[in-house]
Amino acid sequence: LHLDEQNLQPETREVNGILMSKMMSENWDKIWNFQAKPDDLLIATYAKAGTTWTQEIVDMIQNDGDVQKCQRANTYDRHPFIEWTLPPPLNSGLDLMLPPSFWKENSKIIYVARNAKDCLVSYYYFSRMNKMLPDPGTLGEYIETFKAGKVLWGSWYDHVKGWWDVKDQHRILYLFYEDMKEDPKREILKIVKFLEKDISEEVLNKIIYHTSFDVMKQNPMANYTTLPSSIMDHSISPFMRKGMPGDWKNYFTVAQSEDFDEDYRKKMAGSTITFRTEI
Ligand code: A3P
Repeated sequence: LHLDEQNLQPETREVNGILMSKMMSENWDKIWNFQAKPDDLLIATYAKAGTTWTQEIVDMIQNDGDVQKCQRANTYDRHPFIEWTLPPPLNSGLDLMLPPSFWKENSKIIYVARNAKDCLVSYYYFSRMNKMLPDPGTLGEYIETFKAGKVLWGSWYDHVKGWWDVKDQHRILYLFYEDMKEDPKREILKIVKFLEKDISEEVLNKIIYHTSFDVMKQNPMANYTTLPSSIMDHSISPFMRKGMPGDWKNYFTVAQSEDFDEDYRKKMAGSTITFRTEI
């Protein structure tokens, strides 16, 4: 990582209009040329949409509910971020910004989307506690940055719409965070089917329990507490923060929400995707 020595925050650069850290931009060619295999599985999400949760569910399914095995390493070692080890981001979505090899090889992709306001609040607190991300300023300031898409990994709007547009043309399972929260069993079973796995009711119940918010919050191999506090300071805001759809209401003022919604309608016009901002 190329971190600014004084405050750890990375220098940022734009690649094809998407903001990323300098490290990611310098490694962009390598990422772009990443060679996927047909049996690779890609978990793609906009930041804070439920990546860690989905990673844990997939690992539990692939290891037949073996909790101990799923604690063999940190989340990011069990499912490496392509933009982290090799660099660049899963980016601001769109097939344009995904290494073409994933399309060519027809690898399976699980995409997880989360409503914009909860994503924004989650990203705001994550940016405060994660010293590798740019300082988000006040929430009011951050709302403007988010709307403009000038955050690392780019625009939320382009990401969710871009993946939604291509979901039927590829092997993509498009999930929603709110659905996962509403009925974990139903959504986990969708993943099981997509992965062509067969699991018993007992294993399924184990997976539901082990991947619940309260249990994952206590799991050091999933809650990012093994990183030094100079990188992630959980006393500012824990990585496993609330895990609650509709939490944005505790932060947005009525005026901020109305203004956000007006801009949202313009940016999302023409897309058939709909989100629930509470359940
Ligand atoms: P909050 O900040 O709203 O609590 P990502 O893994 O993509 O970075 O997303 C992190 C968000 O997912 C955080 O949201 C985190 O609390 C939430 N999360 C992580 N594990 C979860 C789980 N098992 N159930 C519900 N939410 C979860």
